[in-house]
Amino acid sequence: MCGIIGYTGKKEATDILIDALELLEYRGYDSAGIALSDEAGGEPRLLKRAGRVKDLRELCAESDVSGKCGIGHTRWATHGGVCDENAHPHRFGRVTIIHNGIIENYRELIEKYGLEHKLCSQTDSEIVAAVLNRFYEKDPYAAIRKTVLKLKGTFALAIMFDDIPGKIFAVRNVSPIVAASTEDGAILSSDVAAIAPFTSQYFVVPEFHVVCLSEDGIEMFDLSGDKARIDWLTVDWDVSRSDKGGYPFYMEKEIMEQPQVIQDTVMPRIKDGRPDFSAEGIPDSILSECKRICVIACGTAMHAGLVGKSLIQAMIGIHVDVVMASEFMYNDPVVDKETLVIAISQSGETIDTLEALKFARKCGSPSISIVNVKGASIARASEYVIYTCAGPEIAVASTKAYTTQLAVLYLLTARMAVARGLWDDGKLSAYMEELVRVPKVMEEVLARKDEIHHIADTMLNARDVFMIGRGLDYSILLEGSLKLKEVSYIHSEAYASGELKHGTIALITEETPVIAVVTQDKLKSKELSNIKEVQSRGAKVILLIKGEERLEQEKIWNRIFRLPVMADEFMVMPASIVLQLIAYYVSADKGLDVDKPRNLAKVVTVE
Ligand code: M6R
Repeated sequence: MCGIIGYTGKKEATDILIDALELLEYRGYDSAGIALSDEAGGEPRLLKRAGRVKDLRELCAESDVSGKCGIGHTRWATHGGVCDENAHPHRFGRVTIIHNGIIENYRELIEKYGLEHKLCSQTDSEIVAAVLNRFYEKDPYAAIRKTVLKLKGTFALAIMFDDIPGKIFAVRNVSPIVAASTEDGAILSSDVAAIAPFTSQYFVVPEFHVVCLSEDGIEMFDLSGDKARIDWLTVDWDVSRSDKGGYPFYMEKEIMEQPQVIQDTVMPRIKDGRPDFSAEGIPDSILSECKRICVIACGTAMHAGLVGKSLIQAMIGIHVDVVMASEFMYNDPVVDKETLVIAISQSGETIDTLEALKFARKCGSPSISIVNVKGASIARASEYVIYTCAGPEIAVASTKAYTTQLAVLYLLTARMAVARGLWDDGKLSAYMEELVRVPKVMEEVLARKDEIHHIADTMLNARDVFMIGRGLDYSILLEGSLKLKEVSYIHSEAYASGELKHGTIALITEETPVIAVVTQDKLKSKELSNIKEVQSRGAKVILLIKGEERLEQEKIWNRIFRLPVMADEFMVMPASIVLQLIAYYVSADKGLDVDKPRNLAKVVTVE
């Protein structure tokens, strides 16, 4: 959480920093700030305020600031409320910093260094500037080394010293920093998206390494002071994909991109009609020898894992657990060398998932991660990585990352079946043909977006919404419900339809819209009976059903959306698009900030 940017070079830095902060705002939007200095050095100019980056932009315009070296921050508040004082950058003595992460021992440090009445904010971050200032005696590397060794917790820090003009230093533990040389200087950020407009070559700063950015480029040292080698990576997405492309919100754009990104994720991994992970170096043995699978992930990524569980259990016949990464460590996890751990994460930086993965690896579990952001911490912490090719996902609500994660899980299931010799050629080719058909089917649904918009209209004034289904339909709805609540602020619950009558049906009234999904042939009659139970209590039911088959008493449905037909296990793809669009239209029509829902951040790097 929190977005970080730093630039030094020949150009004026203000607009570079503010433009980047706008791109990074999805990481947190409680406050924003920059610090700028010029060639002469000295105390940098600090501009910061609670609110959005656009407010900071106005402040900068009013203040007429300039400078060719600067750092900027957009905050998701953890320690200390949302106010100007708690906004970053923070300054102490000759040191100015921005911080992403949590300094767990900040209280101890305040006491140890007698800083109780000397700090201006309530944050855990300002203390870092104070400790750096204390240790700083002309050698920035020594000060950084000594400070870092005192810190407990996670941090990505960008640092400016008053008497070292034109240079930005950075160091990190867990929280990410990427850096790059530009035509006229150097840049660093918490995200590749912010540096991609400047260069296609970048690197991930390794943990506990210090980088120094100047007009002449970048140097990197380890904590013992030895020069370290930089491992360069290439940005593999088109920068234009980071803008809204004419859509009012990123969320809509990202929903519409799904056919393409599914294609990009799937097609390079099919060779001669068979799923193929040779480019990732994944040996079949890891898929054939495991006795169990444990998926660890959070939020939407965990919902993708639930679909994966249904697929793998049904098609491969091995047990799959899906564990909320934030709970993993607290339930005495039983994972061992026979348990394949699959970590799923769009950002690749979710700390709960990262910690759970590290724990599982210590227990000897083989691991594969499914990650969207190249070089991210989770990708680097796992034995093998499969990248989803969703491109930058900017809207806080995850859409295309989810369906590309599903696409990888479909491929993995098929490869597992091949590795275990479970399917004959006919079964494999029917499955792969269906997977290849997904983008086209998604396009058919997207072409009907006006119809879906009308469905969303019926929910605009709802206070509560229930979503009911069984089996795979229930997994789809867990994600649909998360989408609706996070962007529309309508309370929504996905419920296994057979479970409703064990208590929750008491909440169903005429005022409660119910979305029912019926896509699984073997569950259809039971699901339709459960739907009747809520209709009898007055609920207005919106039905998403597979195919064109006529239903009894069509008039009793509030709305029916007929989903294009795919094999049952693939119906999650078209159904998800409908649920994503419903959430999107409700939010947009309520006039909400669809891409930046309140209290949230795109990348969750605090436990
Ligand atoms: O980056 P990750 O996939 O690890 O993020 C996990 C969740 O925070 C994320 O999926 C979250 O639930 C979505 N933003 C919801 O739309």
